[in-house]
Amino acid sequence: MIKINQNFQLLSDSYLFSKVAQTLREYKDKNPGADIIRMDIGDVTLPLPATVRDAMHSAVDEMGDASTFRGYGPEQGYLFLRDAISEHDYKSRGIDISPDEIFISDGAKSDLGNLSDIYAPDCMIATIDPGYPVFTDTNVMAGRAGVETNGRWSNIEYLDCKAENNFLPPLPNRHADVIYLCSPCNPTGTVMTRNSLAEFVDYAHKNSSLIIFDSAYEAYVTDPSLPGSIYEIEGAKEVAIEVRSYSKTAGFTGMRCGYTVVPEQLMGKGANGLPVSLRQMWNRRQSTKFNGASYIIQRGAAALYTPEGKRAVRENVDYYLANARLIRDTLLNLGYETYGGENSPYIWIKSDKGEDSWTFFRRMLHQCRISSTPGVGFGLNGEGYIRLTGFNSSSNTREGLRRIAEMKINNE
Ligand code: MLT
Repeated sequence: MIKINQNFQLLSDSYLFSKVAQTLREYKDKNPGADIIRMDIGDVTLPLPATVRDAMHSAVDEMGDASTFRGYGPEQGYLFLRDAISEHDYKSRGIDISPDEIFISDGAKSDLGNLSDIYAPDCMIATIDPGYPVFTDTNVMAGRAGVETNGRWSNIEYLDCKAENNFLPPLPNRHADVIYLCSPCNPTGTVMTRNSLAEFVDYAHKNSSLIIFDSAYEAYVTDPSLPGSIYEIEGAKEVAIEVRSYSKTAGFTGMRCGYTVVPEQLMGKGANGLPVSLRQMWNRRQSTKFNGASYIIQRGAAALYTPEGKRAVRENVDYYLANARLIRDTLLNLGYETYGGENSPYIWIKSDKGEDSWTFFRRMLHQCRISSTPGVGFGLNGEGYIRLTGFNSSSNTREGLRRIAEMKINNE
């Protein structure tokens, strides 16, 4: 038998969303026909915009014609998409990111996990708690996390996000080489302020740290005083990688496309102590382990930067934001302690009965036939909370809220 990567044995049996899905399957087996409203994983419900479909249809036709057929594409992604990103997501907002600093991928999740290839096995990690489980789990797989005691890893510094600090991450208490941040935050829905981000950028400069900034929900920031990109902060290009996704803006959860920005200025320390370009390392990693996202999908993504595409994205995001606000307002009115739901598709809710997250999750499932995500799955600070999403249809969202209101009356 092959000796396995034993770090995998340190992980919990299954990934958070797989465990939720398994629990739902078991519930459905026992309650056939139960009309469950999914508000758990952040999966979108609106179909692809027409302009994306048209662009992909044309790309399929190109691939079916010998004169326009394309084989392997550039591992970094096609220039037509990298140009569009550089222009529309950055330069038009006053941020100078060149196409050479942009790497197209099959989604933010893959990049957030794969980035772990380019920093040292003994790097000290800091991550927000609660946070996207990929931040921790992939570092456990890489053998960086150390020893687990009561749900916490010895080599991971947890940035405790709690109601007391409005779920904004504090700076690390001990030296951190790599810092994972997410804003708007999955799962709490809170958005880091410019000041808070600037403190992290300053910390990273002073401590030679790398910030990995998960910006998958940036399109949900409608308040202009809040930052969408970490590169809005002076000096961020020397210390931060930004990861983005088309999943939650344009119906791409099943299509798979996102991108990562690794600025030219970003350096790491090589074996001889000399600076090494992280952009070149990431390029080397991607060209070795990745053959690029599909041409057809990249054509679909590029269509999002046309006037119609931009309009469609705005409409999608506004639709989900309206759901999220409705969930937030309704739950607040019902007396729930609730966070997020503004500038974010996620709503973070504290149990009104002081239960743990999984008990609250089960009560929502059994009494309201709503599936949520137990907050503790995102870290110890998530205990006692669940996360709901605004990604369902507006009619299902209203029906879900009606059921929660009914439960609240029945429980009191
Ligand atoms: C979530 O529900 O947290 C996200 O959908 C997970 C993901 O994007 O992989």
